[in-house]
Amino acid sequence: MKKIVILISGRGSNMQALLQAQLPCTIAAVISNRASAEGLSFAAAQGIPTAVISHQDYPTRADFDVALAKVIDQYQADFVILAGFMRILTPEFVSHYCGRLVNIHPSLLPAYTGLHTHARALQDDIKIHGCTVHFVTADLDHGPIIIQAAVPVLCDDTEDVLSERVLLEEHRVYPQAVRWLCDGEVSLIEGKVKFCHQKQASFALISPGLE
Ligand code: GAR
Repeated sequence: MKKIVILISGRGSNMQALLQAQLPCTIAAVISNRASAEGLSFAAAQGIPTAVISHQDYPTRADFDVALAKVIDQYQADFVILAGFMRILTPEFVSHYCGRLVNIHPSLLPAYTGLHTHARALQDDIKIHGCTVHFVTADLDHGPIIIQAAVPVLCDDTEDVLSERVLLEEHRVYPQAVRWLCDGEVSLIEGKVKFCHQKQASFALISPGLE
């Protein structure tokens, strides 16, 4: 059975969705860079080992990443799952976990990399928004895409309402992506995402809807 380590920084709702999804893997640990991350107590209550490695304890980003990798590697993780882990990782860290490091981002990448994705989507008045699970590369929020979910942006949406609609889909696609990884259904080969059995979506999301 594959082993995964999940990294969080805060609420941990994606981590919670992963824990509740009965994935075909051992969740070896949940690690946070913030001791106050709300998700830690949920993981601990499920009997998952937790650890805090505070970035504030290290003089440089590189030092923090070395310390983080050391702890992750103690668990012999096959995959490292970033679930709201709000740290930019060094190229050395990323290359150490090449093909084994995945992230979820609250936009339809490559649109809206970085922060405040929902507010920026609303400001631009786009009609379709969503979330993306991707392999992590040194190029922030640009790695090869495994799965995306699209949601409509509705005319009365606030940032909170839109973020909630996207989050519901995050909780569906992230467990699916990790399941594929653990089952060997999807992998990163020469920088491209390869599926053993390509899944095909067969419908369009049109927003606003047709008459
Ligand atoms: C999620 O919306 C996730 O997509 C986003 O942070 C939130 C964490 O929520 N991640 C990023 O913005 C990474 N660039 P959670 O802690 O409840 O899972």
